Amino acid sequence: MRVAMIGTGYVGLVSGTCFSDFGHEVVCVDKDASKIERLSRGEIPIFEPGLDDLVRRNVAAGRLRFATDLTQAVRQAEVVFIAVGTPSRRGDGHADLSYVHAAAREIARAANGFTVVVTKSTVPVGTGTDIEHIIREEAPEADIAVVSNPEFLREGAAIEDFKRPDRIVIGTEDPRAREVMTALYRPLSLNAAPLLFTERNTAELIKYASNAFLAMKITFINEMADLCEKVGGNVQEVARGIGLDRRIGPKFLHAGPGYGGSCFPKDTLALMRTAQEAGAPLRLIETVTTVNESRKAAMGRRVIEAMGTPPRGATVAVLGLTFKPNTDDMRDSPAINIVQSLLDRGVQVRAYDPVGMDEARKVLPAEVEYAASAYACAEGADCLVIVTEWDAFRALDLDRLKTLLRRPIVVDLRNIYPPADLIGRGFKYVGVGRPNGE
Ligand SMILES: NC(=O)c1ccc[n+]([C@@H]2O[C@H](COP(=O)([O-])OP(=O)(O)OC[C@H]3O[C@@H](n4cnc5c(N)ncnc54)[C@H](O)[C@@H]3O)[C@@H](O)[C@H]2O)c1
Repeated sequence: MRVAMIGTGYVGLVSGTCFSDFGHEVVCVDKDASKIERLSRGEIPIFEPGLDDLVRRNVAAGRLRFATDLTQAVRQAEVVFIAVGTPSRRGDGHADLSYVHAAAREIARAANGFTVVVTKSTVPVGTGTDIEHIIREEAPEADIAVVSNPEFLREGAAIEDFKRPDRIVIGTEDPRAREVMTALYRPLSLNAAPLLFTERNTAELIKYASNAFLAMKITFINEMADLCEKVGGNVQEVARGIGLDRRIGPKFLHAGPGYGGSCFPKDTLALMRTAQEAGAPLRLIETVTTVNESRKAAMGRRVIEAMGTPPRGATVAVLGLTFKPNTDDMRDSPAINIVQSLLDRGVQVRAYDPVGMDEARKVLPAEVEYAASAYACAEGADCLVIVTEWDAFRALDLDRLKTLLRRPIVVDLRNIYPPADLIGRGFKYVGVGRPNGE
């Protein structure tokens, strides 16, 4: 099947590459010419484990190409995916649909013969209907079916998630589109991934409802962590204790500095706005977003308090900047708030991240200093803060760290170290959801 993927970012590049790996003929299109140029040279513009190899193999097999020319790619395609960004609109929190609408217009003008246009971008309920109107306006004669097929992959495990999804949600009531989508995903349904066909509006809602629920789960355990700190209790054991209940499940129950990333913050806001305007406010989700924002703001204070009264010119070593491990994505990372609040209090920040420093330089204030390794980051610092739980930080040589730090204080915002390992070596330890000095 011939596929055009419009938007070659974290979602478009992974999905397009995986479809080509199933044997489909895929052209990934992006209007960012430098991105396409890099991809055409064999360079992968994002960090995603295993992606470089998969791209290389499928390009070599002639099934995967990269282009800036949308018209040409769409003209030849039977299925066209829209995988462009839907960031938060400044001011009101609605999803900014300008990229989606612009892509729909271009696709309408280029489509040739029966074409299935599939929205993979996360879009508010009703967007499929808007796209249909846009297409009808631009090209009244075009034979196009508009389908919703939201994406659930996680950065850092994106290929595995795409190839072994829990479910594939397809929103369409058009029998021809249903047939095309079934054929497209056949390799996965052979692997027993259920295809869930729904109405288009329902599919659009499923994506937002999933993300809102997961954000709520994280926020729940974060509040339980605060309670554990006040009344005594270990949030990791609480999480295990409740997660073993199959009605609850163990995932997304790790207390930490608050959720961030390219999806949860913007998707919870967008869903909230949709619900408010529809007169059915989601009060749980409204609270989740408020609690999460205040949590991110509180983490900088936690670091300052760990130092007591920080000495003049104190330096904090920040380990991990990306919003989670195994990605270079800095969008809405809690590290941004933490670093900013440390700088606001006159503390110097030295940071290290295994892959995210190039992206971090684009979003963090210029005064942040970057180190070449975790140990170089710690050297002479008054406090070490673990913000992102990269594997590379899980087995640091604690004795060496102790000799490098000016003051042996560790704030472990991901609870990756057993407190006793640090306390036993004479560190001052602050974690999340555990009584200090445990
Ligand atoms: N990142 C994730 O983990 C994830 C997971 C599930 C769903 N999503 C959703 O998928 C969508 C894409 O997210 P992303 O993280 O891949 O975004 P991204 O910003 O990484 O990529 C979007 C790409 O689209 C390109 N683009 C914009 N308009 C275009 C046009 N008219 N023609 C061609 N290219 C165009 C941009 O240049 C950019 O490269 C969003 O709606 C997001 O919410 C993201």
